[in-house]
Amino acid sequence: MPAPLGYDASGSGQPLVLVHGFPLDRTMWTGQLEGLADTRQVIAVDLPGRGRSASISPDGLSIDDYADSVAATIDSLGLGAVDLAGLSMGGYVVFSLLRRHPTKVRSLLLIDTKAGDDTPEAKEGREKTAALVREQGTAALLDSLFLKLFSPATPDSIRDSVRLMFENTPSETAAADLLAMRDRIDSTPELATISIPTLVIHGEDDALMPVDIGSALAEAIPAATFVAVPSAGHMAPLENPEAVNAAIRDFLA
Ligand code: MLT
Repeated sequence: MPAPLGYDASGSGQPLVLVHGFPLDRTMWTGQLEGLADTRQVIAVDLPGRGRSASISPDGLSIDDYADSVAATIDSLGLGAVDLAGLSMGGYVVFSLLRRHPTKVRSLLLIDTKAGDDTPEAKEGREKTAALVREQGTAALLDSLFLKLFSPATPDSIRDSVRLMFENTPSETAAADLLAMRDRIDSTPELATISIPTLVIHGEDDALMPVDIGSALAEAIPAATFVAVPSAGHMAPLENPEAVNAAIRDFLA
């Protein structure tokens, strides 16, 4: 088992584990750490290579490695079976964890994410972006990916907090994330076999993964509920924490 991850925690009771997207960190879940602490023990992890977690080797890691790190954290904290949430790349990690460590998951929360793998063109794009990020750091993403993350309604203060996460993510880590996403497998064939309660949440204004992707994901999972979040793009938990927390609360109740 890999080393456990760094994390922030709040509240007590049944654990809810939150896995961030790319190229972000545990601080994207501030609104959930604050807003759900009265109902759950909320644990927001840093995936390997950023924040409170140990750095990764230049060889990089796979999405499965990331999932094993989250599983090692669940074990080291003695959490048992958790409610497990992932945003975007975090969702890819959640699908892998469910495949590799099914007894550690009692329910799934899939936020602004998708089940499919990368097309050949997308894989090529990942490689180019990884090379660019290695050369110029994550600042290279501020004119491209960053601009697609938000609803027009999202205030600058939220955009600034996401920019800070971009800047705080080491370039080697961001490059490793990109290659890990390139190599992830297609989780679509497994969706029909997911038998645990599942909540799919998607920002209505998500420009990176349009909201139809979220509703189709929910339709493909037998026990899934779908919630579209208004005034939110790809960063729904940050952009509209009230609506996201209300949906999570209803689901967990
Ligand atoms: C993310 O938001 O985590 C990533 O941009 C997802 C992706 O690139 O597939």
